[in-house]
Amino acid sequence: MIQLAPPSLVGEKVRLRPAREEDMRLLHRWIHTPEVRHWLHASDRPDGTLEEVTRRFWSNWDAVEGRFWIIETAEGRPAGNVRLLGIDPFHLRAELAISIGEPDCFSLGLGTDAIRLVLGYAFEDLGLRRVDLQTDADNARAIRCYEKCGFVREGVLRARRLRYGEPIDMLAMGVLREEWQAGQAS
Ligand SMILES: CC(C)(COP(=O)(O)OP(=O)(O)OC[C@H]1O[C@@H](n2cnc3c(N)ncnc32)[C@H](O)[C@@H]1OP(=O)(O)O)[C@@H](O)C(=O)NCCC(=O)NCCS
Repeated sequence: MIQLAPPSLVGEKVRLRPAREEDMRLLHRWIHTPEVRHWLHASDRPDGTLEEVTRRFWSNWDAVEGRFWIIETAEGRPAGNVRLLGIDPFHLRAELAISIGEPDCFSLGLGTDAIRLVLGYAFEDLGLRRVDLQTDADNARAIRCYEKCGFVREGVLRARRLRYGEPIDMLAMGVLREEWQAGQAS
């Protein structure tokens, strides 16, 4: 399908550039990297070929309802991806999905910078009211990162997914436009 490219966004530590079909090679490697995969919602899904990953993340991607960026470091190294999913023009909300794919790039502030850029785009450019996400309840690094960006804990989703075949809880988190605006002013 035709991919409508989102704008490039430049922050203090990262540049977000629109994802391209060639990037699916990176994505394929990232989602099969054990330190990354452990935390992914689809961690228990069987390994996929490059063709399957391309179909799932690119060919079947809905460019009207989603925005898809590659996160690059200041040096231009691709480090991960961030997406807005299910952009809903009636309820004015969307879901955020992010993953730093290179483990040596964890905890350098790249995720926080990338999310802040995407929230600015979501609230100011798209005019959304709310952005939400779900994360594993034991993903302390992710929760800390999301809270730094203004997300608040909204509830526990019990036994929401399987990890290595075992049910685990997930946390629902969300940020409202007025909360984000208040954070910008302070
Ligand atoms: C979650 C993720 C997006 C966060 O991005 P990041 O660039 O690593 O995060 P940041 O450096 O911006 O922020 C992480 C914060 O958590 C802190 N942190 C790191 N490990 C932690 C831990 N075990 N417990 C508590 N806090 C932790 C960091 O110190 C940092 O806080 P600080 O700035 O106050 O020091 C990224 O680590 C990632 O993609 N991980 C693998 C896959 C994943 O978890 N995806 C999310 C699925 S919902």
